[in-house]
Amino acid sequence: MDARKLSLDFDVAPFLFCLDSVRGSRIVRAAVELGVFPQLAKEAAPAERVAGALRVSVRGTRLLLDGLTALGLLGKEKGSYRLLLIAQALLVPGSPDYLGDLVQGSILDETWDHLTEAVRKGGLEEPAEPVERQKRAEEFFPVLIRFLHVVNRTPAIAAARALGAGTGHRGLRVLDLACGSGVWSLAVADADPEARITAVDFPGVLAYTRRYGERHGLAGRYEYLPGNVQEVVLPEAHYDLAILGHILHSEGEGKSRKLLGRVAKALRPGGRIAILEFLPNRERTGPLDPVLFGLRMFLNTEEGGIFSAEEYAEWLAEVGFPKVESFEIGSHSPLLVASRGTD
Ligand SMILES: C[S@@+](CC[C@H](N)C(=O)[O-])C[C@H]1O[C@@H](n2cnc3c(N)ncnc32)[C@H](O)[C@@H]1O
Repeated sequence: MDARKLSLDFDVAPFLFCLDSVRGSRIVRAAVELGVFPQLAKEAAPAERVAGALRVSVRGTRLLLDGLTALGLLGKEKGSYRLLLIAQALLVPGSPDYLGDLVQGSILDETWDHLTEAVRKGGLEEPAEPVERQKRAEEFFPVLIRFLHVVNRTPAIAAARALGAGTGHRGLRVLDLACGSGVWSLAVADADPEARITAVDFPGVLAYTRRYGERHGLAGRYEYLPGNVQEVVLPEAHYDLAILGHILHSEGEGKSRKLLGRVAKALRPGGRIAILEFLPNRERTGPLDPVLFGLRMFLNTEEGGIFSAEEYAEWLAEVGFPKVESFEIGSHSPLLVASRGTD
């Protein structure tokens, strides 16, 4: 496998299902804890041989391996189990996209046990630190962005295409705000060989962004601006494209509107704002993913939430970007592209 390559050779849907369902996630967690994936990376084998190597029960192993096969992570031929590409990439330690620790830990789920109490009191007291604050962000996001880098790679390539990177638009000056791994701007940089990216995030996260740039052979096109997106000094009328990838939901309405105002000033005439967000309908009755994500924001942030396309369009119009287009990019979150409409 070529670790520098941005495109994926597999569909990540089975892994998403595993993370979202209790049974799926517990089966994968048990397999990670028992060392099933590195064992099968050594050789394809029947249940008896895997159980012997791991010193565990044959009966349990057979059921576990069949479960992993039904979940789409293993193949089974003539009683012998082998890793499918998705398991090789995501669940064998040492792989650049390894997510076994994410399955083992409870980073995504720890706060859900307190939902009742949070609804009762209007928020969570523990953990006291919401994820948008630097200290918590620097603990939480280095793990989460590894997951986002896998899930968003294919949509990011589609988004770069929709933005005309390297085709209608060359030499883009890009501001990637709350960049995480930089997945969205990496795809732009890949498509537009003259693009230059300024990546903003907390310093403890930017250290990881640099590594992704190096991994994909695009680090030379990046400069880094460490700090809080609400506070870093942005040059005026400088950028052609500002990317806001899954950041407005954790900021919430007030801070998002403020941030959009700052971004608008940083854009040149003809500049565009690209937003990737979970978008519920106006009534917040669906689709399911965005609506459930709203509760995650309630549990993990101070003011975060989910906002409809119409709400974003209203906020964008307020800062002088009334023309908003939406593009399907093969993700739960469409790409919204806003421009001044007069350029
Ligand atoms: C959900 S991740 C999204 C990362 C990336 N944009 C993507 O879409 O994959 C949110 C990112 O925003 C960063 N972040 C959150 N609040 C921030 C703030 N106030 N200032 C700077 N970065 C922030 C986090 O460190 C994290 O890397």
